[in-house]
Amino acid sequence: LMNGQLQGRTVLVTAGGTKERLDPVRFISNDSSGKMGYALASAAADQGAKVILVSTIHDRAIPAGVTLVQVESAQEMLTAIQQRFATLDVIIMAAAVADFRPATVAEQKIKKTTDNDRMSLSLIKNPDILKTLARQREQQVMVGFAAETQQLIENATHKLTEKQLAMLVANDVSKKDRGFNADTNEVTILRPHQAPEALPMMSKTALAEALIERILPLLP
Ligand code: C5P
Repeated sequence: LMNGQLQGRTVLVTAGGTKERLDPVRFISNDSSGKMGYALASAAADQGAKVILVSTIHDRAIPAGVTLVQVESAQEMLTAIQQRFATLDVIIMAAAVADFRPATVAEQKIKKTTDNDRMSLSLIKNPDILKTLARQREQQVMVGFAAETQQLIENATHKLTEKQLAMLVANDVSKKDRGFNADTNEVTILRPHQAPEALPMMSKTALAEALIERILPLLP
């Protein structure tokens, strides 16, 4: 891959699992490590892009040329992206966004009580960030990820269409050495009107470069 191919472009990458607060000391989240998002931010910066990394994970080294924006919840992630959306050329949603959040956030730590051994949480649906952005889309090339545990291609194809994406990177997270928290990943790339492209297992660093290479021809 030649250098500097994203010179003058702004790329926003999201990373990590969103944290959905229950109370001041508790949240609901998931196993996403943020590794894929960080690798993508680094690969985009290597190509000369201005890179904004909107992440729930901030204990990792920030790659050179990358600006980190720290967020916690899906709603914060959406707001952080919307504030910058008009300036973006590419948005890559590598974050694992929680589908639901607690319906209310308790101001004080939730207490256990002696009179009941069971408690239920009421959850409400989070906004779908990609779907929301699709409605405001102009020049932006939007790329999504789909972690599936069954019927990978069918489920991913549905998401590609539903979220109106230029590219969807689908991976099978039912296997241990790929996807969530692993250093390697094996994905299938879906694009509208194109046959699925299955990539071999590779490091997330190598995969990030392969993905950036495939995003370049999608830019207007
Ligand atoms: O959770 P789901 O499989 O639908 O995620 C597919 C893609 O959509 C991912 O790129 C994820 O970051 C994004 N997503 C989103 N807003 C949500 C849920 C997922 O943008 N509320």
